Amino acid sequence: YPPERIRNFSIIAHVDHGKSTMADRLLELTGTIKKGHGQPQYLDKLQVERERGITVKAQTVTMFYNYAKHSSKLDTSAAIDTVRSTEECKYLLNLIDTPGHVDFSYEVSRSLAACQGVLLLVDASQGVQAQTVANFYLAFEADLVIIPVINKIDQPNANPENVKNQLKNMFDIDPQDVLLASAKTGMGLSAVLPAVIDRIRYPNGGALSPLRMLLLDSYYDEYKGVICHVAIVDGALKKGEKIASAATGQSYEVMDVGILHPELTPTNLLLTGQVGYIVTGMRSTQEARIGDTLHHIRTVVEPLPGFKPAKHMVFAGVYPADGSDYDALSHAIERLTCNDASVSVARESSGALGIGFRCGFLGLLHMDVFLQRLEQEHGAHVITTSPTVPYIFEYEDGSKIQVQNPAILSSTSGKRLVTCWEPTVIATIITPSEYQEADLVKLDIMLNGQIVDALSAIVHRSKAPRIGREVVEKLKKLLDRQMFEVAIQAAIGSKIIARETISAMRKNVLAKCYGGDVTRKRKLLEKQKEGKKRMKRVGSVDIPQEAFHQLLRTT
Ligand code: GTP
Repeated sequence: YPPERIRNFSIIAHVDHGKSTMADRLLELTGTIKKGHGQPQYLDKLQVERERGITVKAQTVTMFYNYAKHSSKLDTSAAIDTVRSTEECKYLLNLIDTPGHVDFSYEVSRSLAACQGVLLLVDASQGVQAQTVANFYLAFEADLVIIPVINKIDQPNANPENVKNQLKNMFDIDPQDVLLASAKTGMGLSAVLPAVIDRIRYPNGGALSPLRMLLLDSYYDEYKGVICHVAIVDGALKKGEKIASAATGQSYEVMDVGILHPELTPTNLLLTGQVGYIVTGMRSTQEARIGDTLHHIRTVVEPLPGFKPAKHMVFAGVYPADGSDYDALSHAIERLTCNDASVSVARESSGALGIGFRCGFLGLLHMDVFLQRLEQEHGAHVITTSPTVPYIFEYEDGSKIQVQNPAILSSTSGKRLVTCWEPTVIATIITPSEYQEADLVKLDIMLNGQIVDALSAIVHRSKAPRIGREVVEKLKKLLDRQMFEVAIQAAIGSKIIARETISAMRKNVLAKCYGGDVTRKRKLLEKQKEGKKRMKRVGSVDIPQEAFHQLLRTT
């Protein structure tokens, strides 16, 4: 396949907008997997991905596609209107399915380095969401061709016109360029791959230049050792050739080379623009460095730009559940970080837990998934310490330390602390500026049946029961007890949706009754009951100003 017949593209989107389902359909359409034979979300291979229904790892797959290009041209010599011709060409398409969760956006940015274009999927009813924006800009900054696809148009509440407007307003995407599809029913899918071929440029590396390939990803295989996913940027690679790492200088023999179609398929050769795998006998993460440039030995090449280092936001101690299992845990972490280069690992020890590791993650979900994979894929049972973000502590002598573990502070006890720093984010909140139809109700708060107008509020019907309950409970705490019972109610119209009662303060009317005149006592108690009833009927409750303020502040 010459580079003109190769397209490398990725599917990017917000969580659950249908990337993996779309990838399934494209694999079926190209005959890479048989329809209905593969399990759904075929590329989500990890157990953790299947259990959680989310993509965690970017996955590459090579597909072959026969593109029948119909063209019409005016034939003046023959004086006929048009001559229609159909030219059928075979294309090699490399598709990378990427995760949607923000914790895994590192996977997305690395995948984009091997692509010239992306399918940007947007759910037809949810519209543009946070990761749609973030991923759009990742692709935009990488100067990739963006093909917008509105997915899930089969949904009853799909509103593709609205989503087209959002895409126009937010990203200046021409509505005419937007494809409409349903990855579930297959509607509109026949236009997707032709758009990939027509709109995305082919990889334009130097076919005759010295070999430069980018190390995209790796994982450990018990039999073959480290398997690397690579993108051939320039030149070509043959089985048996000797290559070297620009980062470590170490050299290797290429023992196996091929494509992912969809499983490892040896081809003995990878050409300019192709994405595939190599097996070289690398044994650890220290050797398989993600973002590294690999080249033929004895050639000097300019290393490729590589990737931005991952920024770790959450740190936790990871210790073997059984203290003696340190070596097994170390082995498991080594294997797993080979497949997840975004985790940082450093040795640490704790008085209570023994020897373990301090690991840095991109977020809490990332940490959770890493720990689950350690257990499921590598059989490691671990205890983790409570996660912390990295802080900076600054001391009077001018020294600063990054604190990823509270235990580190005991070593600085002699120093005088001046300032502590914590991480913050600058966030952009994007909200629609139009008003929209909403199911709103007036929520009244009543004290003994009388509406307290200052406490009435307009709320969403679905939220009214919760808000009503909260206000009523708070009021109960804030109001003083009265001589009579007080009913606090929240109501929508005549319907009471929450109620609390403040019982009456019982005045000791018997205090002055000395002796044991039972009839008189009973009479007094009866009278008190009557009085309460009267007061309850007519009584208006005093709400102390302070309670009012507190209530309005907190609701
Ligand atoms: P992450 O990788 O976790 O970000 O999710 P994803 O974007 O890969 O989404 P996925 O393909 O897992 O789809 C999410 C859900 O949407 C699944 O339940 C799919 O069955 C459903 N889905 C995907 N495409 C369509 C579609 O076109 N129509 C409808 N109705 N549902 C769809």
